[in-house]
Order: sequence, then C-alpha cells, then structure tokens
Amino acid sequence: MLLPGDGIGPEVVAEAEQVIGAIARRFGHTFDVRSCDMGGIAIDKYGTPLPDETLAACRDSQAILLGAVGGPKWDDPTAKTRPEAGLLGLRQELGLFANLRPIHPHPDLLSASPLKSEIVSGVDILFVRELTGGIYFGDSGRREHPSGEEAFNVMCYSTHEVERVVRVAGESARTRRGRVTSVDKANVLEVSRLWRQVAERVIRDEFPDVEYEVVLVDAMAMHLIARPRDFDVVVTGNMFGDILTDAASMLPGSLGLLPSASLGDSGPGLYEPIHGSAPDIAGQGLANPLATILATAMLLRHSLALEQEAVHVEQAVQTVLQAGHRTADIAAGAPHLSTTEMGRLVVEQIES
Ligand code: IPM
Ligand code: MG
Repeated sequence: MLLPGDGIGPEVVAEAEQVIGAIARRFGHTFDVRSCDMGGIAIDKYGTPLPDETLAACRDSQAILLGAVGGPKWDDPTAKTRPEAGLLGLRQELGLFANLRPIHPHPDLLSASPLKSEIVSGVDILFVRELTGGIYFGDSGRREHPSGEEAFNVMCYSTHEVERVVRVAGESARTRRGRVTSVDKANVLEVSRLWRQVAERVIRDEFPDVEYEVVLVDAMAMHLIARPRDFDVVVTGNMFGDILTDAASMLPGSLGLLPSASLGDSGPGLYEPIHGSAPDIAGQGLANPLATILATAMLLRHSLALEQEAVHVEQAVQTVLQAGHRTADIAAGAPHLSTTEMGRLVVEQIES
C-alpha cells in the first residue's frame, strides 16, 4: 500500500514505485501495488487525515510505504485535526511499536556531513525508538490557571511496552555488533526508572550474550556528536527517540538518505523516509528519492522476506552514489540530478 501523502511525498514515492516495478521484472515477482490518501491531502478531501478506507486498506496489505505528511497549509494550531495525527493514528492502530532507524553514513558522502569525516566515518547505529507509547500518546489537555491556562501531557510506560521494544533491540544487536545502549532520564523521571529496571532485566535474562549500557538522554545528545562510532543499537522511548534520531540524521549529512521501518508483532510494517514533506521544495524535482527507495529495501526485507531483493536495491543505490551521481541536497553546489533522474538511474542499475 502506497501512502504518498503531502509535499515531496508523492514525488519520492513515485520513484520508489518504479523501483518496485524494476524488482518485480528482475526477480519475476508480481506485486499488487495500490495507493491511498493520508495526511493533509486526506484532510482536504475527507476532513480527516486517516480515513477509515485508508486504514482498512492498510490493514489488508502486507506492507505500507509512506512518503511524508504535513505542510504549512495544515499548520493552524487551532485546527480540528492535523496531518501528523494521521501518522500517529496509523502507528497506533497497526500496533507499530518498534521504529528502526539505521544511521550509516555513506562512505562517498562523508564530506556532506557537517561533522568532521574522522568523527563520522565508520558510524553504524541502529536506533530502536518506541513508537506507540510515552508522552506522544499520554493523556493531554488544557485547564484553567490563574495566569490564563495550563496545558499538560502525561508520559507513561508499562512494563509490557518496555519489554517488547527492548526485545527488538536485543534481537537486532545479535545480528550486528552485539551491543545495546538504553537511553533514559532516570535521574529525573519515574517513567525512566521503570524503563531502566525493565530494560536491564530483559537484557540480563534473555540476552546475556549482548553487551548493555545505559546513558542519560542529555549525555547521549553529546555523545552522538562527539563519538557516534561507539554505538551499535540504541533503544529509547518515543520522544527521546524522535529528537535523537533527528540529530543523528545529520551525521550522514542529509536527511534525504535515511529510511525507517515501523514494526509490530504481526500485520503489515510501515516504511518511510525519515525526512518530512519539505513543502519548500515540493513540486520542483529537487527532492532526493533515495531515502524512500532505501525504505523500500527495508520493506522487501522485513515485511516480504525478500532479502536478496532488498540487498539488490541497496547495492544499486550504493553503485549510483559511488559513480558520483547526486541530487541537490548532497551535491554541495555542484551540478545535480532531479528526483526522477536519480530514480531512473537506480532503476537502470537494478535492471542491469
Ligand atoms: C517522526 C516525525 C513524527 C513523530 C511526526 C510527524 C508526528 O517527527 O516520524 O519522527 O514525531 O513521530
Ligand atoms: Mg521526528
């Protein structure tokens, strides 16, 4: 199921669709690809960012590829609903509690990073962000206050919510360098003290072979910039993961290269680029489609069990970058390709 969404979403998803077609031809598969409205475009058409038909079609699918949602048109803080609510709703309705965000700077693009190459080179982090709990899903509201109003958001995690996401981290670590870092704010938050207790127990009892450490979130923000190479799998709650993965996304220099996967216990997974809808460049052919194409590779791997096909897509992207082809975001002012030109090169590489 394709959910192109808003802004540059439709442009980058269109390239991913070409890639799916190329993989089908190359490996002799037939994919049943459909498309639905989600986000701002769904608000405009149906008054809700996640129409029932979209949700039902997603539930019926094996995997979902999302472009991006949101934009200034729907940013009015007093509006009844927002595009982002559609994304949060989809994650919650489908039980997609584990968000995998790999950060692996491309060796040919180290100069695109705002950090020095010697800090960024060799970085290979997998963030596992809890995605359906914590403060983004807690009770919220406004109430009267002598100064006018006050607003509140409740942060809450249960044992079960921590256990299952830490298990995903432990299992991922086993396929990588065998290390898990759990990030919390246990020096201040009761929620974090429970998180830390549960995380420690799960790793000790179920993953004795995995190396484990805890880091406070403020210190983690610093370590991510100063010594990002030291981390393998990083597991954390919803809000901390949201913020830390945006920071980490700058290590490779461009958001335009980073995919993510959101997985539950069963049912379809949701795959998307980490970048947003970038309304400022929408419709100009400037968007980098590679993050969405790499998200498609994750989709092939995690939801369709097509590992060989996933690797084939990743290698095609690698080859195109190695040959020096660049979209505007990673061209550093040099001549650059359009969204569709970049997509076409990847497709040609897949078919070659
Ligand atoms: C992300 C985004 C979303 C989030 C927004 C669009 C709701 O920032 O996927 O990180 O906060 O989870
Ligand atoms: Mg975010």
